[in-house]
Amino acid sequence: MVGISMVMRLDFFLAHGTGLSRKQVKILIGKGAVRVDGEERPKANTRVVEGQGVWLHDEPVQLPGHRYLMLHKPAGVVSATEDGEHRTVVDLIPAELRRDLHPAGRLDRDTTGLVLLTSDGDWSHRLTSPNHACGKRYRVCCADPVSDEDLQALREGILLRGEDRPTLPAEAERLSEHELLLTITEGRYHQVKRMLAARGNKVEGLHREQIGEIELDAELAPGEFRVLTEDEVASI
Ligand code: URA
Repeated sequence: MVGISMVMRLDFFLAHGTGLSRKQVKILIGKGAVRVDGEERPKANTRVVEGQGVWLHDEPVQLPGHRYLMLHKPAGVVSATEDGEHRTVVDLIPAELRRDLHPAGRLDRDTTGLVLLTSDGDWSHRLTSPNHACGKRYRVCCADPVSDEDLQALREGILLRGEDRPTLPAEAERLSEHELLLTITEGRYHQVKRMLAARGNKVEGLHREQIGEIELDAELAPGEFRVLTEDEVASI
């Protein structure tokens, strides 16, 4: 499994916990107003890990209200809150942020990339509701070359095995012989893999890059997360 860190940048933590802007928070950190358990001189990019205390002007800082996070899901982790066997996406988030946290939509265990997590049930309902038609963009690596006919079929809609209505129109762009970007607005069971299977192909690598307007932050390594910005939260 790719390295997993239960970490959050100090400036994100403080901005979220206090309602101050990241800029204001950085100034306070620079002035030495912030203490972090076990860190002599914390900086804005100091990683706060599970169990560490954070104080601003000697007052403990905790994270309020609903939480909205993006996670770069590594392979091998399941999109659930609990699992008897495998590590879950919620296990990758520090304990102090976990209350009521759930993934808004799922990825298969072997799929990597963007997972949104929240404690706000209405927000996750909007995100996953079929009426909301939120686009999800995947980078798909296929065993066999992808033909023009395949692209056309993916765009028009494909009748999946065992179903009686075709998938909704999708956006499909070939990146190389075996690789494409596919944007779908539904969330049927194993949808991307089944769409390619219906074309006689096999998905060998699947990575989600975007949900609606929210793109996976390129600075997040697999296993890392960050708090969503206000604009990102409002975009759903
Ligand atoms: N489609 C799939 O087949 N798997 C995923 O994880 C997401 C979309």
